[in-house]
Amino acid sequence: MAINLAILGATGAVGQELLRLLEARALPLGELRLLASPRSAGRQLQFRGETRTVQAVSPESFEGIDVAIFSAGGGTSREWAPIAASKGACVIDNSSAWRMDPEVPLVVPECNLEAGRARPKGIIANPNCSTIQMVVALKPLHDAAGVKRVVVATYQAISGAGARAIEAFQEQCRAAANGEAVDPGPLKGQLAQNLLMHWSVDEASGYQEEELKMVHETRKILGDESIQVSPTAVRVPVLHAHSESLTIELGRPMDAAEARTLLAAAPGITLVDDFAAGAYPTPLTAAGTDPVYVGRIREDVGNPGGLQMWVVSDNLRKGAALNAVQIAEGLFA
Ligand code: A2P
Repeated sequence: MAINLAILGATGAVGQELLRLLEARALPLGELRLLASPRSAGRQLQFRGETRTVQAVSPESFEGIDVAIFSAGGGTSREWAPIAASKGACVIDNSSAWRMDPEVPLVVPECNLEAGRARPKGIIANPNCSTIQMVVALKPLHDAAGVKRVVVATYQAISGAGARAIEAFQEQCRAAANGEAVDPGPLKGQLAQNLLMHWSVDEASGYQEEELKMVHETRKILGDESIQVSPTAVRVPVLHAHSESLTIELGRPMDAAEARTLLAAAPGITLVDDFAAGAYPTPLTAAGTDPVYVGRIREDVGNPGGLQMWVVSDNLRKGAALNAVQIAEGLFA
């Protein structure tokens, strides 16, 4: 059955990635509507060799639409997702607006696709990019031995901050290389030759909201409120693909060989794990590809029975667009 699909945020970084994925994948498409703000109305985008015109979003945009993938920020999603759902569309939303709503399933197909079948608000939430790649890697270990605690540090790419942030970073690199003053711009600081932590801060805890998303979303997706997550999120001067260092405590001791066997058999994961030979995942090789790459699987020298590993994935793909498309494929195709 062909699906009538709308993309809200079609001109953005994730929207563009969605179009590239839909061009290449087998999801049977009927109508495809490209939506954005009034700023982009009339802009032309290419899809499968044809020119498509972007429309300003309006209530009529969702008439006859089966699935609407939103990637236009939280405020836009809070405003438009209920309208799209009232027109009968299933909204798959990339923003954080609905993720922790108990009436909105939070879905990573490798972990909990079936949760997406019960959606009282007509909305399915796509998790945070850093959470997605982490839970894909944790899921087989959790099923085998129960994840008790994860200490995670992220090395997050700029594309997660949107198309304008990439342009700003490239201008920062040019300015920094020429000894000119660097404009913080949408990056809210100098990322060229630097690291930043600039997501909004939860003043009560001192954590960044980006970090707290990993705490709460992991529990919701894996369906286990007892999992403890200790996160640190860092923006690094890399354009595409997030990297994560995970330190994992399980309900029973697990050696690296068992973890490797479980991870190698798990959906969505590609092992790149021959560190002695120099093989480990990097953002440069992950960029533009689909898998969650796992490497450096090792027994934790500081916690016998625990594990450490390195997890890399393209944040615009598995971390956003691909996960949304896989939800649509899994539930509607
Ligand atoms: P536009 O290009 O018209 O501003 P990114 O995350 O790369 O910054 O992209 C954000 C996407 O969300 C863009 O497609 C942007 O459209 C869209 N968007 C932002 N604000 C709104 C809004 N109020 N209504 C509809 N689309 C919006």
